[in-house]
Amino acid sequence: MTSHPLPSVAVLGLGSMGQALAGAFLGAGHPTTIWNRSDGKGDGLVARGAVRAATPGQAVRAAEVVVVCVVDYDAARAVLDRAADDLPGRLLVNLTSDTPERAREAAAWAEALGVDYLDGAVMVPVPMIGTPEALIFHSGTRSAYEAYEPTLKALGGQTAYVGEDHGLAAVHDLSVLDFFWTAMHGLVHGFALAASEGVPAAAAAPYMKTLAALLTSVVDGTAAEVDSGKYPGDLDNLTVEAANVRHIVRAAEHRGLDAAALRGVLTAAGRSIDLGHGADTWSSIVEGIRNPA
Ligand SMILES: NC(=O)c1ccc[n+]([C@@H]2O[C@H](COP(=O)([O-])OP(=O)(O)OC[C@H]3O[C@@H](n4cnc5c(N)ncnc54)[C@H](OP(=O)(O)O)[C@@H]3O)[C@@H](O)[C@H]2O)c1
Repeated sequence: MTSHPLPSVAVLGLGSMGQALAGAFLGAGHPTTIWNRSDGKGDGLVARGAVRAATPGQAVRAAEVVVVCVVDYDAARAVLDRAADDLPGRLLVNLTSDTPERAREAAAWAEALGVDYLDGAVMVPVPMIGTPEALIFHSGTRSAYEAYEPTLKALGGQTAYVGEDHGLAAVHDLSVLDFFWTAMHGLVHGFALAASEGVPAAAAAPYMKTLAALLTSVVDGTAAEVDSGKYPGDLDNLTVEAANVRHIVRAAEHRGLDAAALRGVLTAAGRSIDLGHGADTWSSIVEGIRNPA
């Protein structure tokens, strides 16, 4: 049997995420070259076998797959411009987070250079990189993704290809984080409301977990209703649920807490009700979200 060497990789950007990515590649046995704008980062990676490059171009020339992960797309472009002549013939994977618009701009830049390009978004914190549970979205050239899927899965077992349009990884990123940060705001707001009456967050936490589990159970049904535009409110309805939200707003403001986020929820719910969805399910609030004042 002949053994095929694993593709060589370069990681440009050694912030906390870049170092974790390079570490995962090393852990999976990929020849790994690293580069960072400023000195003093990546010594531990070099100790594990990574090769430090003096310039982005030198790193790119050493690799089949080039991963860039820096603070934003302006920084990514600044790095990649320095290696532009060396990129054609390699796969460029941008794991810097930004908007779908910036991702499509970067894809146009790569296409003009004749470079296969995948845009990606890392959805998990640093300690999870390289684990079977780590979720990373990729979008862009399908054939390039398929050719290097095993390499990309070294970074996370839940690596998901979400489509040819390079903006789609960022679309999924923002969509999931829209949910996450709104829920995280609600978690902390709920703790603050409890604390305003002397109930410590720790005492409320077990019940927060019960409701968090409920959220998991409603995701698929809500998705079906949002996709179909049908919200049969047989067991509950938006009017009653908006009244519940109003109670929270009143109670929070009575205790001197900010309730701007839930006031926004009430505004969207009110617009949906005005559009005729008062007897429909909570999902119908999407109509108010889609029709801002
Ligand atoms: N950390 C996380 O848990 C996490 C989770 C999911 C996604 N992400 C995403 O991963 C990306 C990187 O995050 P991070 O946590 O690694 O950030 P970080 O620790 O703050 O590192 C930022 C990196 O960007 C580089 N950089 C900044 N400006 C630059 C420029 N003008 N030119 C070249 N390099 C520049 C820095 O280089 P210097 O060392 O020279 O300053 C450093 O390598 C971000 O898009 C972030 O949203 C991070």
